[in-house]
Amino acid sequence: MLVSASVLFASPVPGARQPVDPQAAWLAYNAVDAQRVFPAGTAMPNTVLRLGDSAVEISAADELHRGFEGMLHRILRLDTDAVQASKDHDLIVIGTAKEIAAWRPSLREKKPLQPEGFRLRSVVAGKDSLLIVEGADERGALYGAFTLLRMIAEERPLTQLDDVEAPSAAVRWTNEWDNPDGSIERGYAGRSIFFDKGDVRQDMSRAREYARLLASVGINGCTINNVNADPSLLRPEKLAEIARIAAAFRPYGVKLSLSIAMNSPQAIGRLSTFDPLAPEVAAWWRAKVDEIYKAIPDFGGVIIKADSEGQPGPLQYGRTPAEAANVLARALKPHGGVVLYRGFVYNHHLDWHDPKADRARAGYDNFHTLDGQFDDNVIVQIKNGPIDFQVREPVSPLFAGLHKTNEAIELQITQEYTGQQRHLVFLVPMWKTALDTDMHVSGMRYSMVRDIVTGRTFRRPMGGFVGVANVGLDDYWLGHPLAMANLYGFGRLAWDPVLSSATISDEWTRLTFGNDADVRSVVDTLLLNSWHIYEEYTGPLGVGTLTDIIGVHYGPGIESAERNGWGQWIRADHNGIGMDRTVATGTGYIGQYPAGLAAEYETLKACPDELLLFMHHVPYTYRLHDHKTVIQYIYDTHYAGATAAAVQVPAWETLEGKVPDRTYFEVLRRLNYQAGHSLVWRDAVVNWFHRMSGIADDKGRVGNYPDRTEAEAMQLERYVPVAVTPWETASGGKAVVCHTASCSASMGFTRATGWYDIAVQYFDLREGASRFTLEVNGTAIDTWKADDTLPSQKLDGHTSTRHTSHDVALHSGDRISIIGVPDGKEPAPIDYLEITPASGSERSVRRKGPQEEIHGNKDH
Ligand code: GCU
Repeated sequence: MLVSASVLFASPVPGARQPVDPQAAWLAYNAVDAQRVFPAGTAMPNTVLRLGDSAVEISAADELHRGFEGMLHRILRLDTDAVQASKDHDLIVIGTAKEIAAWRPSLREKKPLQPEGFRLRSVVAGKDSLLIVEGADERGALYGAFTLLRMIAEERPLTQLDDVEAPSAAVRWTNEWDNPDGSIERGYAGRSIFFDKGDVRQDMSRAREYARLLASVGINGCTINNVNADPSLLRPEKLAEIARIAAAFRPYGVKLSLSIAMNSPQAIGRLSTFDPLAPEVAAWWRAKVDEIYKAIPDFGGVIIKADSEGQPGPLQYGRTPAEAANVLARALKPHGGVVLYRGFVYNHHLDWHDPKADRARAGYDNFHTLDGQFDDNVIVQIKNGPIDFQVREPVSPLFAGLHKTNEAIELQITQEYTGQQRHLVFLVPMWKTALDTDMHVSGMRYSMVRDIVTGRTFRRPMGGFVGVANVGLDDYWLGHPLAMANLYGFGRLAWDPVLSSATISDEWTRLTFGNDADVRSVVDTLLLNSWHIYEEYTGPLGVGTLTDIIGVHYGPGIESAERNGWGQWIRADHNGIGMDRTVATGTGYIGQYPAGLAAEYETLKACPDELLLFMHHVPYTYRLHDHKTVIQYIYDTHYAGATAAAVQVPAWETLEGKVPDRTYFEVLRRLNYQAGHSLVWRDAVVNWFHRMSGIADDKGRVGNYPDRTEAEAMQLERYVPVAVTPWETASGGKAVVCHTASCSASMGFTRATGWYDIAVQYFDLREGASRFTLEVNGTAIDTWKADDTLPSQKLDGHTSTRHTSHDVALHSGDRISIIGVPDGKEPAPIDYLEITPASGSERSVRRKGPQEEIHGNKDH
């Protein structure tokens, strides 16, 4: 923990709204101003008349009931009897187009609705005042109901309502990387909502609530298990259990799908082969798929990760992805199911010494030649970038490389490389950058990625959006309450990729926190700036996230990218940095783009700065478009990013009492932590580049920390210095650890008497909860526990954490000590102390002892 409990859980603020259900997410249904929604002359309905009996329509009517109660304090009467309901003249009517036309033929509209689309209308007919939620089908009716509720939440007047909408694409799915044991690959919010210890959970309430959330933004499918699939989930007894998850999804129109392992026929079917072209293998898949549909009649289809990162695949038999995909596609076709075959196929044993080797090429190289060979119910699922969800990547050239194949874009909602929900990163602007990229397909005026994946550009029958969500059992589904804006945003973009980031952010903020202008302005600003801020203090100029590439992908670990087969190389040496992917002198990757886009990336002059190091290798002294050198840009952005991360804290603090307390403190805790960890990032990156390039920072900041005292330079009692690896993740490359009951590190304070903030940089390992106490002249002034569960058991960039004791009164000559008490495997490690003039923050620690002798106040 960064902030001590006493600071965090300060006395409750009068007026703060009472705790909300953290799982309600954007379906909080906060009270709204009814006058705005139903201005004078517009009747508020009393009754909801449901015309259809399907489970999905029942959910829709129930939802209207729930939303009206929460937002308008109106308890709607639920009716299914048209005659009875017609006694009331102020009605919401919900049904499919067919049902509505049968109910009142005069309401039939000529223009048919698109599948899963809806029309919302307010109609005054005689004495009747009707709000009509008309779906093209059952799902459309449900999406219409949720849209109407969103309009109410945003206090939009419902007079003369006439809104026709339809989803942009057929496939709007999330992938959940859950394992049968209940763990989640790259999940950062606790255990699986589906599985536990090898079985499907008994309690399906979270699964059902999740489906409701997904449906509320138009998501119609969910793949419940890890793409690194466990074949045992296809066993008959497991399918029976999985059918319970499908049943929980069904009332919300969310189709269940499964990730499958290509070797299943061998692993669980006892065949001697899984060669997709072996007749017995195809027969096995047919029988298996039939069996799945018996258990789950509305099964959506399968996701295949093959020949990638150790997964079995057709390559083993010299078969192509198309041959493998089609075997499954043919088994699924009679049932209406689809195959999502992942384009994420690459060799992770690349030769680092080969200047032409390039992982970014793999997707295009492996799939481009197969264009036209995939069956119509196969969709190639392509990650937005050619590498792997880095903080900045160009779009995958494969999007423009398949003209006769269905395509879906895979976006990552779980923040694997973008701060793992401990850092605030609203990803919608990043996704928009990909979706709005014009691929310059020859002969086309525009060929935006968003039009390619929805099937418009190449006139494909199918396409879509897949978001890797990885929600967990923890509160707020994704851990960080504000991270839910990403799940919301994914759904909204899948529905309509033309929506702007600002629109999506503001919708989410209003639905989650209400319509207060201050709250909207603060939250929207935080969200919309967050990606840029994160990029600034992590990986610059398209080089990649600069994290620990072969590990947990969280904190800084710059060199881990190099000298291995994984191919996320940055090719940094003493002179320069970046992957040369040009056609002229590099790996030729740029040549995979259509000529118009390739021309932009190929030359240094035209290549956008933010992708410079992705496309080119340049010296550190190379000047960007604004004439700043690459190295100075790296220094400046890292300082600017860390400063901006710190400023998020006071911005959020202005919302105390305006958002529910529980959410307020949860976000505050995370933003405080992020502010500390952004300094770890900043210092690691700038020091590493400083050492590598030998070029000084123009502004003299790098390597120069006048307020800092290294723990290893303090007077140590029982603490022992250790070297930290990678060196850049500890100040001075060293820390101190305690291998006995307690240790201390002390220093004399020689600066002017006054008020100071004392930051202690320490390492909070995954296991253990060491205790630290900050003492001044032997008197304890602050104490805290290192009880976070960061993703490493080592002293490194993942675990380096900052605790700041604010507004501490110090006399020149005082003795400052940190007492560390180890716990279990955690040796109370300390990196350094940083003492700065007090920032004037209100989060002051209790002052006592000698500090009280200081006369005057904080105006020093
Ligand atoms: C990344 C991620 C893996 C995941 C893989 C995939 O490499 O780190 O955990 O399995 O992507 O998307 O298949």
